[in-house]
Amino acid sequence: MAKSDGAPAAPHGAMSKTLKEGGTIEPVREILWGSSAGVRKFETAEELPADMRKLIIRLMVVQADTEFASIQQHRPWLDTAPTLEDRWIEARIVADEARHGLQACRILRDFGEEGQKMIDELLVKPEGHHKLDAFNMKFDRWSDAGAFCCFVDRVGVYQLRAFQECSYGPLARAMPLMLSEEQLHLNFGASVLRRMANDGPKYYGDKAEAQAAIAKWFPRALDMFGHSHSETSEKAIAMGLKRWTNEEARERYIQEITPLIHGMGLELPSPEFDRHIL
Ligand SMILES: [Fe+2]
Ligand SMILES: [Fe+2]
Repeated sequence: MAKSDGAPAAPHGAMSKTLKEGGTIEPVREILWGSSAGVRKFETAEELPADMRKLIIRLMVVQADTEFASIQQHRPWLDTAPTLEDRWIEARIVADEARHGLQACRILRDFGEEGQKMIDELLVKPEGHHKLDAFNMKFDRWSDAGAFCCFVDRVGVYQLRAFQECSYGPLARAMPLMLSEEQLHLNFGASVLRRMANDGPKYYGDKAEAQAAIAKWFPRALDMFGHSHSETSEKAIAMGLKRWTNEEARERYIQEITPLIHGMGLELPSPEFDRHIL
């Protein structure tokens, strides 16, 4: 079950980290789950088996694509968000997402020419032409920015948590900073929706707007987990790259977000509502 701070629980069968005297955590050097559990992690692109190399490239392309796309989505609100504080947070989010994109591209660069070709394509992708639907939708209202951070960034956190202890060392080590930055985005998104639901027109938008934004973004967020019966996701678990099946992760997400939204006095549509990917 998901923890209340947004951190999904450890996967079944994963070894736990050992805490050294003095409270520092030993870096995990071995693969924690999947068919190579207990073996040393992969540390360079050259030593990866071909199927794993292919999958990491694919995962990093999607990761970087979402980071760059979200910059395009946030951009119009940099100097139009309702308060000065909101504008500063928008600027901070855009800087964070640019850095996350850069980190994903650094991992791609390790794959030589093949990785560089992907980066070159990513950098010229126009708005509305991204891999996942959630990143092709505009923030027409301020409530969209809030719901996007609260719902869509939260899905991203599930992916990053899986990478955090994954079998490819360079990817695992990039995660802690990204995760702490994403936490700010989630909290910001939740606070925007909470203020709309409770402060009403004193802020910028009201409860009905917050509710409409939830109906717009919740289905797209659930779609982001992918098909329930996905062979790729099973393979990724066996390779130690993903921790949960798509359906397990989606279920944990629903369990986590339901009390959060209800606590704001808002409702969630049914998980089947307006879904494109089942
Ligand atoms: Fe990000
Ligand atoms: Fe984010």
